[in-house]
Amino acid sequence: MDAILLHREQIQSTVRHLAEAISKDFEGKELLAVGILKGSFIFMADLVRHITVPVTIDFIDISSYGLAAESSGEVRILKDLDTSVEGRNVLVVEDIVDTGLTLKYLLGILRERNPRSLRVCTLLDKPSRRRTVVTLDYCGFEIPDVFVVGYGLDYAEKYRNYPDIWVIKPSS
Ligand code: PRP
Repeated sequence: MDAILLHREQIQSTVRHLAEAISKDFEGKELLAVGILKGSFIFMADLVRHITVPVTIDFIDISSYGLAAESSGEVRILKDLDTSVEGRNVLVVEDIVDTGLTLKYLLGILRERNPRSLRVCTLLDKPSRRRTVVTLDYCGFEIPDVFVVGYGLDYAEKYRNYPDIWVIKPSS
């Protein structure tokens, strides 16, 4: 473990600001927050507690780092949503956008299901790694091309429970 990149206080403050912006934009409307497993689960839990419009929650699990995803952007749905998105205001909640391939694929799937609106909220953005164009409506932090863990993000399934976000050397 190298060093803390984002302290828990910084994260919580930014999460509150994101939730305020979302609540303002969706005033008078209802929201379906769709978390992408597993990384988004802590961010989702904190974010929705600060959202002041009525919100329902669902999760989808997509494999993003298989060989297929790296080469073509084709990724698999491991667990689909439980609810229909048709006619609803959907907010996709991500922990990190890296190449953008996972998000692009997911947005394509969701658009075909005819939501009323489709927005994206990510805690972290690594723009230097992008391989496709995706629009991020709400973004917490832009970070450099370093491997990060904590606050839901893992290395080999470890460290998701760390309250701060750390930089890690993937070999450690
Ligand atoms: C991470 C992250 C995003 C995706 C971003 O998920 O949660 O879903 O990678 O990468 P991309 O922009 O290059 O597609 P991961 O596959 O590590 O699974 P996890 O959320 O279960 O940790």
